[in-house]
Amino acid sequence: MESEAGEREPVIIAFCCHYCAFTAADLAGTMRQQYPTNIRIVRLPCTGKVYVNMLLEAFVDGADGVMVAGCEEGSCHFLEGNYRAKKRVNYAKQKIEEVGINPEKLEMYHIGASEGPLFARKAREFTERIRKLMQEENEPENQIQNEK
Ligand code: FES
Repeated sequence: MESEAGEREPVIIAFCCHYCAFTAADLAGTMRQQYPTNIRIVRLPCTGKVYVNMLLEAFVDGADGVMVAGCEEGSCHFLEGNYRAKKRVNYAKQKIEEVGINPEKLEMYHIGASEGPLFARKAREFTERIRKLMQEENEPENQIQNEK
């Protein structure tokens, strides 16, 4: 997928908890809150089901950015799933940095089920962040650095 300027649009995987962020994403659509169509949502029963290998494999499989969106702190239906997810996201950030991927390309959010506009805003902001990082990586001086 390319933008009007001919640049490749980022591919973003969003692991979303069924009880909150997924519902918020659905609500955002119902409320006609726009967010980028290049976000691919993977619905999970809880972000506690996000494992480090899933995050890493998303990048291996071509994702430009990965977001994990779970219930607000203290509101996980499985008590600590979102805390576990946050730890795994932080660990995965270290791992991707070790192989040369900017850790800013992975982020965890807490979004309640009724927060459709917040989901849409975070999706837009994250997409814009990834787009900027991709542009920076494509600048000639950075390409030379990346090849070293
Ligand atoms: S049930 Fe939503 S993050 Fe656990």
